[in-house]
Amino acid sequence: MILIDPKRIPRHVAIIMDGNGRWAKKRGLNRIKGHQKGADAVKEIVQTSNEIGVSWLTLYAFSEENWKRPKTEVKLLMNLLKKYLKRELKEMLDNGIRLQAIGRIEKLPAGTREILLDSIEKTASNNKMVLTLALSYGGKQEIVDAVKKIGKQIEKGEITSNDISEKTITRYLYDAGMPEPDLLIRTSGEYRISNFLLWQIAYTEIYITPILWPDFNRKEYLQAIEDYRKRERRFGGTLETDQYFDPGERMKKCI
Ligand code: IPE
Ligand code: IPE
Ligand code: MG
Repeated sequence: MILIDPKRIPRHVAIIMDGNGRWAKKRGLNRIKGHQKGADAVKEIVQTSNEIGVSWLTLYAFSEENWKRPKTEVKLLMNLLKKYLKRELKEMLDNGIRLQAIGRIEKLPAGTREILLDSIEKTASNNKMVLTLALSYGGKQEIVDAVKKIGKQIEKGEITSNDISEKTITRYLYDAGMPEPDLLIRTSGEYRISNFLLWQIAYTEIYITPILWPDFNRKEYLQAIEDYRKRERRFGGTLETDQYFDPGERMKKCI
């Protein structure tokens, strides 16, 4: 059993859920079977996060670059998302989970988008945990979209280029109120970020595990949190000067 100090629970956990295809291949199954099993892992990790007191959980479910995959796989993934949202709405409502999405949501097929927006609306007043799904999401695209909005403000004469600061950029991210992740987990052993939350992870602790996403369960997750608990976060300072600050607090001050 792993004991976790509630004071050291990361406030915001972000996860790159990778390895569904390899999980299926290892078993001689179709990739979609891996995605189906991956959806069960999502359920377990959402439940565990809520239980241990994580306030923000952000899951990379579909990247902007994932549109490059074969049409059939994309279609199956979108259907799976629809099914997941339908199946989990009650669970989210019963457990105080507020759903939201970041990414170019307008690109999702109409059926999936409708259910997504409906679930977002129905869970809007929940306040125990925020579950953010990154869908058709790209970190570079998010920054481009933010810069465009800032450009518009300049065109309208509302600000000048001298007014642009970190706060300005943060204000125009897909979710300006989201605290920066404390812990970023990537499954399946790849040592890369794959265009996830580029701006927000500047000082995030990174945990990479070889476990494939469909096998990532409560036990593996608690191990990642236990590992995080031992990290020394310095944010560019030294331990002696006690530079630790809560990135969430900083974010609140920005908006
Ligand atoms: C992650 O698993 C799910 C998505 C990106 C949608 P993959 O489908 O990338 O699985 P691998 O990396 O091919 O094993
Ligand atoms: C990252 O996984 C995106 C998601 C988990 C949704 P990918 O499988 O798309 O990443 P790469 O291609 O291995 O970098
Ligand atoms: Mg992958």
